[in-house]
Order: sequence, then structure tokens, then C-alpha cells
Amino acid sequence: MPANFDIREHTDGAGYADLAQTGSALVQGDAHRILTALPDGIAQTVVTSPPYWSLRDYGIEGQLGLESSVHEFIDALAALFDDVRRVLADDGTLWLNIGDSYTSGNRGWRAPDRKNVARAMSTRPPTPEGLKPKDLIGVPWRLAFALQERGWYLRSDLVWNKPNAQPESVSDRPTRAHEYLFLLSKNEKYRYDVEAVRGPNGRRLRSVWDLNTQPSRDAGGHFATFPESLAERCILIASREGDLVFDPFMGSGTTAVVAAREGRRFIGCELNPEYVEMAARRLGG
Ligand SMILES: C[S@@+](CC[C@H](N)C(=O)[O-])C[C@H]1O[C@@H](n2cnc3c(N)ncnc32)[C@H](O)[C@@H]1O
Repeated sequence: MPANFDIREHTDGAGYADLAQTGSALVQGDAHRILTALPDGIAQTVVTSPPYWSLRDYGIEGQLGLESSVHEFIDALAALFDDVRRVLADDGTLWLNIGDSYTSGNRGWRAPDRKNVARAMSTRPPTPEGLKPKDLIGVPWRLAFALQERGWYLRSDLVWNKPNAQPESVSDRPTRAHEYLFLLSKNEKYRYDVEAVRGPNGRRLRSVWDLNTQPSRDAGGHFATFPESLAERCILIASREGDLVFDPFMGSGTTAVVAAREGRRFIGCELNPEYVEMAARRLGG
């Protein structure tokens, strides 16, 4: 059944108080600007994947991820997540998926990739100070520590292992087949239904999750999605029916699609109008 939701374009001065108790929405605009207009404490959980640093050019002004230094990128995200914490319920959680990248070795561009057009970059940032060419930057942990310092409780690092990971043409390190997902909470005590999701053989969930990536055609053609199976686990564990699930970087709407399917409400922000349309289509709107 198609989900019931509004599609809104964010404008300065817009308010979202009507979404505190009822309704769902896809909001087109800059995530941080939208966040500052959201009322306190409205979201039970946040399931999100911000743009990765220097990995993709989504081709739209105002996008995060193209900052010239990794420190700037982390600072911008950490400031945005201060507002995420404000809009979370006191017993709310943040499930944060973020990928890593390697320094470019001061190569100023990335060649086009036929399978992934957004990976071709016209510019690439310089190697961060203190790092060397070919270094793994450690973006996920840098962000996790920044959030911890700003008051978040860092409760778990989860490894999203991708059994169907793409091969890489590197011969001096193992092929990368995982990403991190962090569970962070606003307070010491928070909603976590340990019975909601079981791992293989009915055991309690462990911290390594084997989940295949989903073909981008299943996500309307967006190329940087997480699978519905990942969002589903987080949403079932961290919220109840009728609760509001928030995703500041909605992309093709995976979080919203799963939230709607599981009887939750949602708010998803996305800068790129084409992705908002994509998400609306996936939601049956
Ligand atoms: C990694 S993707 C999210 C994918 C999503 N989890 C899914 O499954 O489709 C990050 C998204 O953030 C969006 N984005 C980048 N900067 C933004 C900003 N300032 N405000 C809102 N969205 C932004 C990009 O357009 C991109 O679609």
C-alpha cells in the first residue's frame, strides 16, 4: 500500500511542528537548514548515511562531502549532528553508516567510472595534513570520536560486511568488503528492543552484520544506498509503530521506505530534487 506523506520544499521560515504528532514528509533542501526548523525531541530514531568525504560528486550546490579538508568535513557533520541530537527523543538513538576513503596521493582528479558516474570527480582534495599518499583516512572513527566528544554516547561499532562486495583492482591490500555503522544514543538509557531482531540461528544480534548490497536499480538508480535489510534492523530495534524515524540524508529514501513498511512515520531530507522524486516513487507516491 502506498505510504501517506507530504513532499515539501524547504524555505527559510518554514516550520514542521505539524509533523511532531502525525504525518510523514520528504523535504527537499539542505539537511542542516531543515534540522534547525524541526521541533525538539520529535524523532525516536535516526537511520542515516551522510555523503562520504571526497568520494562522490552528487552534482548539486550545497552538498556535503566536497570540503577541502577532512577536518572541515568532520566539523560540518558534527555540527549538523548536534541538531540531530536536539530533535531526538530523550531515549532516542542514531544509527550512522559512513564509509572510509583513501588519500588521493595528490592526484587532482578521479577518472570516470562507467558503472558509477558520481565517482568521477573534477577535483579531489589534497592529502590531509599528517597523512601520506595511499593512507586510509579513518573517516568513520574520526566522526565517531567527534560525536562522542560533543556529548553523544558511542554504544557500538557495527561492521556491515558485504558478502557480495565488488572486486577492486588493488594488489597491495585486501579488497574492502565492509563499512561501519555506529549506534549512538542521546542519553545513557535509550530504547533498544533486544528481542526485535535475531541473528542467524536465533541468537542475539552480534556486531558483524552480513548483508548484501542492493542493486541500485532497486533503489531507483541511486548509487550510494544502504540495503533495506540494514535500515530494517535499526528501525525495528529502536522504534515502535507510529514513532517518527528521521533521515537527514535520505538519498533514494531507503529509510523512509522501510519506516513506512513497518508502520512508522518518517521525515527524510534530501538536497537533490531528483532523489526526492526517486524516493517518492519508491514510496508509491
Ligand atoms: C550516501 S547518500 C544516502 C543514501 C541513502 N541512505 C539511500 O539508501 O538511498 C547521501 C545523500 O546525501 C545527499 N546530500 C548531500 N549533501 C546534502 C545536504 N547538505 N543536505 C541534504 N542532503 C544532502 C546526497 O544528495 C545523497 O543523496
